[in-house]
Amino acid sequence: MERANLEARARALIEAEAEVFRARRPRSAAAHGEATSGFFDGVPQHWMLDWPTPFPLVVDEASGAELVDLDGNRIVDVCLGDTGAMFGHGPAPVLEALKNAGTRGLTTMLPSSDAAAVGRLLVERFGLPRWQLGATASDANRFAIRVARAVTGRAKLLVFDGCYHGAVDDTLVDLVDGRTVSRRNLLGQVRDLGELTVSIPFNDEAALEKALAGHDIACVLAEPVMTNCGMIPPAPGFHAALRRLTHAAGTLLLIDETHTISTGLGGYTKVHGLEPDLMVMGKPIGGGVPVSVWGMTQAISDRLHVIRREQSGHGHSGIGTTLSGSALQLACLRACLEQVMTEEAYRIMQARADRIEAGFKAAIAAAGLDWTVARVGARLEVVFSPVPVRNAAEARAAASDTIEAALHLSMLNLGYLLTPFHNMVLVSPALSERQADGLVAAFATVTGRLAERRAAA
Ligand SMILES: Cc1ncc(COP(=O)(O)O)c(C=O)c1O
Repeated sequence: MERANLEARARALIEAEAEVFRARRPRSAAAHGEATSGFFDGVPQHWMLDWPTPFPLVVDEASGAELVDLDGNRIVDVCLGDTGAMFGHGPAPVLEALKNAGTRGLTTMLPSSDAAAVGRLLVERFGLPRWQLGATASDANRFAIRVARAVTGRAKLLVFDGCYHGAVDDTLVDLVDGRTVSRRNLLGQVRDLGELTVSIPFNDEAALEKALAGHDIACVLAEPVMTNCGMIPPAPGFHAALRRLTHAAGTLLLIDETHTISTGLGGYTKVHGLEPDLMVMGKPIGGGVPVSVWGMTQAISDRLHVIRREQSGHGHSGIGTTLSGSALQLACLRACLEQVMTEEAYRIMQARADRIEAGFKAAIAAAGLDWTVARVGARLEVVFSPVPVRNAAEARAAASDTIEAALHLSMLNLGYLLTPFHNMVLVSPALSERQADGLVAAFATVTGRLAERRAAA
């Protein structure tokens, strides 16, 4: 079906589904608004308004793979707080750790008795030998970038067009007409971010080689599979080239596994044998508690020791925040690494994701749509393109806010919450086979409606 027709159908669907959403949520509607809530824009975080619903649904309870909203609607959650709850809402071992942490002190600015075990677990699980904690993946990326600059003595950074690595100034750029520019809509942006950041298309080996040729780039910061601009898989051989070229240029490789931790135990890096110099993870690693981790090689750690000694070794380093490395974080990290983020959990996630991938592909074919399903482990993305996209330009060309909104709203009214800002399904180990099949059936219904065909479920 032609894109214009599909978008027209999508607009009609959005109108009808928005009415259904409203009718089912009088309490959520009443709870919303600046005057009622006291919040700027009526929400504690402005992103909460960016969902394609007429107003945000207010969550009363979240447990496992399910949410209940303020109006009592039960919803199967495959957004999972955009990965923050990837292992399900409130995993029992993390809840237990929280209970105990409450009586053992939440934060002291000293290592807790869990610290050594957590450090060993990080080394064992993710491969790099030296680690530090932060509160968010944004923090961890900022700290890792600072270290890359410190140890290389270089100022510049390279990212891939379409990237998102959190609220990290250096990375909030776009590639426009061959130039790296500050991203549109940034608030209070006073410096041209293109001065120190270079953005190039993903999967473009020649552009990478050219950008690194000046030997002035401290690090390349990359997601192993790009997940924030649709989903862009690496072309065969791209990671090998990335490692080879960064090594040759004396540039460090910083891998951001915050989303691709969905790949399997140890993240994409471990599963695919990448060899980064620095690595960052956040979001689900503490089971929903704000904690992030960043790791480095022994060589970087050694160099950092020297630099710290030369600088007298203490004082403000620009790295760390007061609540980072807290007893609370360590307790939750330990519970998550030991008991939640396990081989068995990933096995279940992969099995459910297999089922969903096959079901979605069948529904797309039945509806006669020329879409694909991209996937990195437990993370699946419906891409409105007949072939996998190779870079952000292709991803943007394939995207449609209208079709996406229609898909989201319709799926939500059928009881399934997709991830906003793209068409992402995240599979937690709490998702049952029945829920996975229900998700597929709902997707078949919606794609059938969009394409005006009766889809085979
Ligand atoms: C790849 C990646 N890295 C880092 C972040 C930042 O995470 P946070 O917002 O928890 O700091 C995000 C957020 O979406 C992300 O997608």
